[in-house]
Amino acid sequence: MTTAHAIADTRHFVRAARQQGRRIGFVPTMGALHQGHLSLMERARRENDAVAISVFVNPTQFGPAEDFDAYPRDLDRDAALAEGVGVDLLFAPRAAAMYPDGATTYVDQAGPIVETLEGAHRPGHFRGVLTVCGKLFHIVEPDRAYFGQKDYQQVAAVAQMVRDLALPIAIVPCPIVREPDGLAMSSRNQHLDADARQQATCIHRGLQAAQACLDAGVSSAAALADVVRQTLLDAGHCTIDYVAIVHPQTLAPVDTVAEPAVALVAAHFGGTRLIDNHLLTPKG
Ligand code: PAF
Repeated sequence: MTTAHAIADTRHFVRAARQQGRRIGFVPTMGALHQGHLSLMERARRENDAVAISVFVNPTQFGPAEDFDAYPRDLDRDAALAEGVGVDLLFAPRAAAMYPDGATTYVDQAGPIVETLEGAHRPGHFRGVLTVCGKLFHIVEPDRAYFGQKDYQQVAAVAQMVRDLALPIAIVPCPIVREPDGLAMSSRNQHLDADARQQATCIHRGLQAAQACLDAGVSSAAALADVVRQTLLDAGHCTIDYVAIVHPQTLAPVDTVAEPAVALVAAHFGGTRLIDNHLLTPKG
């Protein structure tokens, strides 16, 4: 595996791969790799001739009161894990390369995909995500880019950007990878202490409870959201940012779950903010 810090070295690697007719699968990450990331890399490995990943904790997607400084970083560990699943190129740029002095160009998107839920609770977050993804896509020029569905809105926003800007990249959404007790894998899980870690399992339980109620004939989105909310509250100390049930493509709220709809949750456990979601699917 080649590790590159410079944009020029990364371009050199991908252009050489392209000249050999190799198709490139790309997994952008902020490091602190876990099985969720590795599953994206494994899929990229199966579906492409070369696999590139990026490891970059992107400052522009964090708000001033968020956990940019505390975000876990261990490049040696990440490199060993990536190499273990057959990654060919690890691009770990310095912040100054991604955001040179005086940089003033950003990717902005409008509409419910970026303005609701995460967008409403984390102003500027998607502007940062789309700017860095746009730039990474421009540097790595992948054929396919792989994203985990835990960040449901992120995948929708990136797919919208790729359509709007006619980028020649297929966005591949991949299933959420969970711990045995249902907690969605996240780099932030390592900040949870034992109590918060135990409580956090209520997110998945709440989403499953909503699916069970839907299966039992409850189709009101408000009632299903209440089931999730109540499960979180019953688990003890947590602060809920939102529980929402929305259309899978437009992310507009739905009143009734007659067709598949996504239930999304964001909540804080002992100071750590977690997100998760589930595609509520009516029977039949
Ligand atoms: O999902 C993430 O880890 C980040 O938002 C991403 C896509 C790597 C952009 O910084």
